[in-house]
Amino acid sequence: MKLSQRPVVEPAPEQPARLPVGWDRPWLAPLAGYSDLPFRCLCREEGAACCVTEMVSAKGLWHDGLNTWKVLETVPWDTPLVVQLFGAEAGCLGWAVRRLREQGFAWFDLNMGCSVPKVARQGAGSAMLRDPDNALACARAMIAAAEPGHVSFKLRLGVNRDSVNWLDVALRLEDAGAGLVTLHPRTAQEGFGGQAHWEAIAEAKRRLGIPVLASGDLFAAEDGVRCLKETGADGVMYARGALARPSVFKEHKALLRGEPAGKEIPAGELRRLIRRHMELIGRFGSEDNALYRLRSIVPRYVRSIPGVRLLRQRLCACQSLGELDGILDAFLAGSLAGAGGACGQGGSARLDKFDPPLPSCGDSSLPDREHEPWK
Ligand SMILES: Cc1cc2nc3c(=O)[nH]c(=O)nc-3n(C[C@H](O)[C@H](O)[C@H](O)COP(=O)(O)O)c2cc1C
Repeated sequence: MKLSQRPVVEPAPEQPARLPVGWDRPWLAPLAGYSDLPFRCLCREEGAACCVTEMVSAKGLWHDGLNTWKVLETVPWDTPLVVQLFGAEAGCLGWAVRRLREQGFAWFDLNMGCSVPKVARQGAGSAMLRDPDNALACARAMIAAAEPGHVSFKLRLGVNRDSVNWLDVALRLEDAGAGLVTLHPRTAQEGFGGQAHWEAIAEAKRRLGIPVLASGDLFAAEDGVRCLKETGADGVMYARGALARPSVFKEHKALLRGEPAGKEIPAGELRRLIRRHMELIGRFGSEDNALYRLRSIVPRYVRSIPGVRLLRQRLCACQSLGELDGILDAFLAGSLAGAGGACGQGGSARLDKFDPPLPSCGDSSLPDREHEPWK
């Protein structure tokens, strides 16, 4: 797709009346810069029961920013879908929900967990936990603009260790009419460091009547199933686990059925997943855009295999999807100028932890419009 073209935003005409929540209904978490339409489609094919968009700037929507609509790109098949918004102005968030409903979206989430400076500076994301009264005003505005129970909230524990206030906020959100909450049990200050405090998820389950989804350190199906058993959460959201291994959703369901989940991805399976991801990117965009995206996506899947640096160099220089395909084949077969290919001959890729880059998230730094009707 050329940048000037209007993105295709065509939600399913029939939106589900309820979202699928359950131990055997793993979700794809919101992942700025990653949970775009092709990746969501891939994850759905691999068993994701529901997907959340990358976070979308409510202000960006008001400014009708092309990049914001690009984040909202969807097709009828991409359902059930939850749109995650970020912002810190109640009027703007309420307006955004109404605008998105006009467009055909039905399910919404508010980001109360992102600690990236460009989001936190606006008082949005995890910074909302600094000002619970404003957070509640924003929540109420979204809830009033949506159908009952159609708005959820994704929280961290608090801004830092000295201000852990998630439970108070979550109880107030429940009173206000939240349909569901997701807890990533770390403080904003902790970022992605240390271990997620799953015990807070167990506490959320004890104290809240609405469904609780668990997020945090779910790198593989074993983690997701263990988290459900240890916390009693109503469901899980895979984030970094899905980025490294989109088949985690199938593996999760298999594990619940009592089938063992392998620790390593067989090379053939890895090839199939990458190829399918390539096809989906190609289907929803131009070859130029697909090439650009794939240069960063392909190394992510094979990052634990020796020789990824050379693979990256080759991908940067390649000019077509066909060429990219060939380079990947050579890499997996161990014949990319003698480097890499640890998994080429029936080997496998190790699951690896994944440190997030700074996500992009639509038009969060647009100039203010003169007339802002929600004010
Ligand atoms: C690259 C990246 C982008 C993310 N983008 C978002 C986002 O847009 N909205 C959000 O609520 N959380 C976002 N998160 C947080 C994840 O949804 C999830 O809560 C977090 O990664 C913890 O889960 P994990 O440890 O299993 O990865 C992001 C995480 C990563 C790694």
